[in-house]
Amino acid sequence: MAATKKLSSLFPVFSLICFVSVFFLLSLSRKASISSSPTHSQFLQFKPINATNNVHANATSGSDPYASADSSCDYSDGSWIYDPDARFDRYDSSCKEIFKGWNCILKNKSNGRDIVKWRWKPRNCHLQPFDPLKFLHTYRDTNIGFVGDSLNRNMFVSLFCTLKRVSGDVKKWRPAGADRGFTFIRYNLTIAYHRTNLLARYGRWSASGNGGKLEALGYKEGYRVDVDIPEGTWEKAPRFHDILIFNTGHWWWAPSKFDPVKSPMFFFEKGLPVIPPIAPDVGLDKVLKHMIQFVEKTMQTGAIKFFRTQSPRHFEGGEWDQVGSCQRLQPLLPEQVEELFSLKNNGTNVEARLVNQHLYKALKGSNFHILDVTRMSEFRADAHPSTAGGKKHDDCMHWCLPGIADTWNDLFVTHLDSLKITN
Ligand SMILES: *[C@@H]1O[C@H](CO)[C@@H](O)[C@H](O)[C@H]1NC(C)=O
Ligand SMILES: *[C@@H]1O[C@H](CO)[C@@H](O)[C@H](O)[C@H]1NC(C)=O
Ligand SMILES: *[C@@H]1O[C@H](CO)[C@@H](O)[C@H](O)[C@H]1NC(C)=O
Ligand SMILES: *[C@@H]1O[C@H](CO)[C@@H](O)[C@H](O)[C@H]1NC(C)=O
Ligand SMILES: *[C@@H]1O[C@H](CO)[C@@H](O)[C@H](O)[C@H]1NC(C)=O
Repeated sequence: MAATKKLSSLFPVFSLICFVSVFFLLSLSRKASISSSPTHSQFLQFKPINATNNVHANATSGSDPYASADSSCDYSDGSWIYDPDARFDRYDSSCKEIFKGWNCILKNKSNGRDIVKWRWKPRNCHLQPFDPLKFLHTYRDTNIGFVGDSLNRNMFVSLFCTLKRVSGDVKKWRPAGADRGFTFIRYNLTIAYHRTNLLARYGRWSASGNGGKLEALGYKEGYRVDVDIPEGTWEKAPRFHDILIFNTGHWWWAPSKFDPVKSPMFFFEKGLPVIPPIAPDVGLDKVLKHMIQFVEKTMQTGAIKFFRTQSPRHFEGGEWDQVGSCQRLQPLLPEQVEELFSLKNNGTNVEARLVNQHLYKALKGSNFHILDVTRMSEFRADAHPSTAGGKKHDDCMHWCLPGIADTWNDLFVTHLDSLKITN
């Protein structure tokens, strides 16, 4: 089935997971402080959110409901401007936290140094690069967690490298469940990455001899996804962190792992299988609903939650395993963006906007803030590692660092600053 090919482009993720697991095991053997005691900043206060006008209905047009830094500005509506003389000194390829496959400068990707010469210009305002020293001052005594898949790690690494450049006094330190984490000692600011592919807990499932509803339908094996149980890697994160940034999406369209025939996803609610079995996109809606409720219940009042929209892939000429590649050295034109991503064309990377439809629906009425990175990123076919990713297949999914995840963080900090109550 064609759908099977479609999202098998997750292969880069899986190879990455192998690397990550190895690193994870290595870092386990080093000593890592683990703590789950709730700590919250005494000093920061954020404006309460008005949930009624939280989310707009249109997932694809990308108007930004929380452009509160400048309420007339839609940060997702704009264009990339090239400045050959742009100086980029946020951080460089020597930042050790950059995963090798994303270090396009070190890997000599031909446009590796050019990627950051493009600046995102929202139509009606400016998006400034955030000032890392000011950030450390403002958010001292604060814990910030990224919760999601490797694309959220991409963003986490960008933030880490930017802060590390101005404050080198850093201790490796992982809050409970986190994959990686660092404290900027002088500022008592911790940032951490909690790895989770589906947000919900999942694991292998196989038919049991005692029979059951799935067994009765003839199912032999697959994955059990508990739609109402957060994965252990982040279940403590809402109590620990003051600010959380979530994402999910890439793994929901991943038939190379969740093969609809050989290893389908079975959704469980309250410990029982959902019968008749539901498709992954329906399961995603259930998971989002439960996870949003869980976070809203668990996080302290005044804590800030962001949901980052889907990061687009740029496979052209086929899927990752069908010689799909991303060889462009310049951003796409608006009409090329539509050709690649419009739902009508149902192309290779169509999931970017599909995922967003689910996110926007689930977040409507919640008190999450939305970080809309999809539109700006859709242009950047030039900014993936491609063959420099060091894999058999082009990596047209993750992003080079330095690169556009830096702009995502500018957007994040702009939003965050706008929510702060200054006394
Ligand atoms: C989109 O294309 C895939 C094949 O790549 C196909 O399986 C699917 O049915 C199409 N969806 C729609 C809505 O046309
Ligand atoms: C929230 O926004 C709605 C619509 O803009 C407005 O009618 C309502 O008064 C606002 N509520 C608060 C508490 O600000
Ligand atoms: C959604 O966006 C599309 C494309 O920009 C536009 O044509 C459509 O009218 C929008 N729909 C709504 C409900 O705003
Ligand atoms: C990148 O280029 C430098 C200088 O030409 C070379 O020393 C290095 O081995 C190259 N690295 C890779 C990964 O090809
Ligand atoms: C560090 O920040 C936490 C809040 O995240 C606070 O509870 C703790 O007291 C701070 N430590 C110091 C030494 O100020």
